[in-house]
Amino acid sequence: MEKIRIAIDGPSGSGKSTLAKNLARELSLVYVDTGALYRSVGLFVMRAGADPKSAAQVTALLDQIDLKLVYTDEGQRVILCGEDVSDLIRTNEISMYASSVSAIPAVRKFLLAIQKKMAADGNVVMDGRDIGTVIMPDADVKLFLESNSKARARRRYEELVAKGHTYTEEEVYADIVKRDENDSNREVAPAIPAEDAIFLDNSELTREETVEAAMNIIAEKLKRKR
Ligand code: DC
Repeated sequence: MEKIRIAIDGPSGSGKSTLAKNLARELSLVYVDTGALYRSVGLFVMRAGADPKSAAQVTALLDQIDLKLVYTDEGQRVILCGEDVSDLIRTNEISMYASSVSAIPAVRKFLLAIQKKMAADGNVVMDGRDIGTVIMPDADVKLFLESNSKARARRRYEELVAKGHTYTEEEVYADIVKRDENDSNREVAPAIPAEDAIFLDNSELTREETVEAAMNIIAEKLKRKR
């Protein structure tokens, strides 16, 4: 069977991971969450007490970082120097660290090989910011998922509350706006769509409708490819 590779890019909280997980299930693909890698570097930098915006400080730490992705029945787990940090990296604070370190070229270079390897193994749906442009420029389908910042903040807020965090919706909104700024204005791999990406705006769509819309786009693309 031919391998299928799907790239999903888009801003924070646009529902990339929810969509990717659903597509992985529907199409029997491995879901690779690349944000978890940047988050893990962010966690390492935080624990080291370094400034996440300082390229020199962060770069000096990279050779101590050992990252692995493993796949279990529960999905992807990320192992940082032998410790499963998959749950620890889901805080607002780590989001900001991840956003800062992801703008440092050495960090992107450091995480390139592991992502390229996952891409080469095939049968994947990967989400991130530069999947369609850098990691899998030859993906079968490239989706760019968008939704307005209010809708994204609301979803992120609900997700955080469900996990027991006590942020307010306003805090989450402010955070999303700040991260968007960071992620799209930087010089290295900004969150911009690939030329051949297909836009999907899900501000007004439910999860199920988003999955359905994406499945239609994918079916159409794969039909044309064959
Ligand atoms: O998707 P996420 O929120 O888990 O990503 C965390 C941060 O990592 C986000 O601010 C942008 C960055 N990131 C990136 O620069 N490139 C990727 N492929 C994935 C994430």
